[in-house]
Amino acid sequence: MDTTKLSKFYKKSHEEKISALFEAGVISDEERQTLLSNNLDLNLETGSNMIENHLGNYSLPLGVAMNFVIDGTNKVIPMAIEEPSVIAAASFAAKIISTGGGFSTDVPDRQVIGQVTLKHVGNMAEAREIVLNAKQAILDRANEAHPSIVKRGGGARDLTVRILEEPALPGFPAFLSVHLHIDTKEAMGANIINTMMEGIAPYIEELTGGTALLRILSNYATESLATSHCVIPAHALKTGKYTGEEVRDRIIEATQVATIDPYRAVTHNKGIMNGVDAVVAATGNDWRAVEASVHAYASRSGQYRSLTTWETNEQGDLTGSLTLPLPIGTVGGAISIHPAAQLSHTILGHPNVNELAGILASVGLAQNLAAVRALVTDGIQKGHMGLHARSLAISAGAKGEQVQQVADLLKQAPYMNLDSARSILRNLKYN
Ligand code: MEV
Repeated sequence: MDTTKLSKFYKKSHEEKISALFEAGVISDEERQTLLSNNLDLNLETGSNMIENHLGNYSLPLGVAMNFVIDGTNKVIPMAIEEPSVIAAASFAAKIISTGGGFSTDVPDRQVIGQVTLKHVGNMAEAREIVLNAKQAILDRANEAHPSIVKRGGGARDLTVRILEEPALPGFPAFLSVHLHIDTKEAMGANIINTMMEGIAPYIEELTGGTALLRILSNYATESLATSHCVIPAHALKTGKYTGEEVRDRIIEATQVATIDPYRAVTHNKGIMNGVDAVVAATGNDWRAVEASVHAYASRSGQYRSLTTWETNEQGDLTGSLTLPLPIGTVGGAISIHPAAQLSHTILGHPNVNELAGILASVGLAQNLAAVRALVTDGIQKGHMGLHARSLAISAGAKGEQVQQVADLLKQAPYMNLDSARSILRNLKYN
């Protein structure tokens, strides 16, 4: 990628942005034409084949975040999001992080978990032993239920058994949960796993004498973890008012607050997910699965905590790290159908699923740095207001050049709200 073509990207016109991506080697000529003709939407027929009672397609803005250097490679990051400032913030933080060499990621080989949960199992401990002893036969049956994933080099790899009991709820029944650990290769794997779990359930019923109540994947992707780290020289953090060291310490303190206070942690982690969800959506992945998994992971100690860690090293740098469970894929579902999802994978350079997971963790880390740095220095509103003013101007009815004119005047108005935007627009029209 020729990143020189991408400099001052945000200052370019829409057409210039698209040409710059082409000239930098991020998109092909065909994709450039698609973007120029605004042809990224699903067609009606595809949409109607995806869901029931289809009425039309719902669009989100698709943009790109810049300045990401991940494991030594420059990346342009596609993001589908309606919230102003997220892309600007991610790009800004990625630039700061690039002063320390960018992000380094750590993504061990992933497996996805499927569960058969049984009720009415007589002797739990005995049933557990019986299932463990039949491990190979169960794995074989699971793989026979989905031969195509085995052909692609994946398949069921391991089996564990959990007895689900809740002593804190007297009289509550116990269940037996049989987990398969499955290599789904590039797929998120929901269909593969559900087919396997339905395939093995009758045999497990036979083995245990219980009744299979649930046969489904677990979205708690504790075996699909991705970590991103960064090291930032303190001087790169300085603002007009604070030294780099002060900003570094304030970021660390703010993260300590989010580690001990769930009220703050939820907002802190929401900021992380602003970036993660935007890339998950852009790449055609299931953001509900990712959201559910990530927030459960934030509670793994028994208390909901910050997902990021910010500390200082011996050199006085700020060091950051973020680990996320990521139930995602690079093939299947909307990924193969949606033109914007396909373009997003191209923009990312067609990463494999582990690389995509590392990218997502890096985006989350950048997004958190941007938010917390702003919060502990100028406050968040300063950065938000520019784009918010444009949204208000559009809501008030401004068109074309009026949008910027109304937004500029709105920033000087005593109150930045819709009424002010309307009255500014009225004045503009009558002058
Ligand atoms: C807003 O969408 C996200 C923030 O609230 C995140 C945070 O507070 O860390 C700014």
